[in-house]
Amino acid sequence: MTTDFELNGVSVSVHADVNTPLLWVLRDELNLTGTKYGCGKGLCGACTVHLDGQATRSCQLPLLAVGGRRVTTIEGLSGRDEPHPLQLAWIEHQVPQCGYCQSGQLMSAAALLERTSSPTDREIDEAMRGNLCRCGTYGRLRQAIRGAARGNR
Ligand code: FES
Ligand code: FES
Repeated sequence: MTTDFELNGVSVSVHADVNTPLLWVLRDELNLTGTKYGCGKGLCGACTVHLDGQATRSCQLPLLAVGGRRVTTIEGLSGRDEPHPLQLAWIEHQVPQCGYCQSGQLMSAAALLERTSSPTDREIDEAMRGNLCRCGTYGRLRQAIRGAARGNR
C-alpha cells in the first residue's frame, strides 16, 4: 500500500507495510539516516522527529498514522540557506560528545522553542526529560537551549 505524506517540505509516497514504524521508513526506504535507533520502545528519544510540529518518537509511530501529515526530520530542521538557531547554539556550546543522541535532542528542543520562544528552566527540563544521553551532555544541552532562546528575544 502507498502512504503519502509531507517530509521536510516535500510530498513523498512510500510503498511499504503500513505497520512499519516511521523510523525504519525514514532510514531504510528514504535513506534519511539522521534519525537514530536507540531503544525501539519509546524510552530514549534518539528517534525523535516532528509530526505536525510535535516532537514524536518515530520508533513508535506506524506509517499508517503518518498519511496526509507533515513530518520533519533532522535533515529538514535548518532553513534552506542557514542553520537552525539551535544548531548554532549546539556548536557554540560544543554540546555533542559521541553525537548519537543529538538529532533526537535537537528535534525535541526545536519543538519546545516552537511552542515557547523563551522557555523557563523547568519547561526545558520537562521537554527534554525523555531524551537520554549516555555521554551525559545534559548540562551543555540546557545551556545551548537557553542560548538559542535568548537569541529569540
Ligand atoms: S528508539 Fe525510539 S524512543 Fe528509543
Ligand atoms: S552525545 Fe553520546 S549519547 Fe548523547
